[in-house]
Amino acid sequence: MSESVNPEIQIESSDDDGVSRRQFVKVAVGGMCLAYLGAVGYPIYRYLESPVEKSETLAAIKNVDLNDAQKLPVGSVMMFKFGPYPALLIHHDNGDWSAFNAVCTHLGCTVQYHKDQDKIMCACHGGQYDPRTGQNIAGPPPKPLEKFAVKVNAASLTVSRA
Ligand code: FES
Repeated sequence: MSESVNPEIQIESSDDDGVSRRQFVKVAVGGMCLAYLGAVGYPIYRYLESPVEKSETLAAIKNVDLNDAQKLPVGSVMMFKFGPYPALLIHHDNGDWSAFNAVCTHLGCTVQYHKDQDKIMCACHGGQYDPRTGQNIAGPPPKPLEKFAVKVNAASLTVSRA
């Protein structure tokens, strides 16, 4: 005498922990959907984030203290954060200091100081800026970089909105 087994009953059966395969698949698929939504949604949120809110955030920050930055050797550059934005601190060969918001005024790439050419340059579309004034001197940038004031202290260096 043979015994027949209903396949649906086997699918719904629980393992030792009481979790059915169907429940496990539901949780796994739900988790993957959430991960996918996060991976797609976060960049979209960042893209749509209000530029007004960003500018208000930047406007609220008046100065940044950079500990030990006064020790930056002559002819060197240092990147730092001014609020949420990248910024550049340059210690020129003659001992002068310059600091700028490092967000290119064209389409927002981060600019870098090139000591060999003594220029601030944007790798995205070839924009160039004067490293002492921040003035846009070549390429597509429509306006100068925002220049910050620099004050050298005994134990730090303070960069502030001019
Ligand atoms: S983003 Fe800098 S030149 Fe276009």
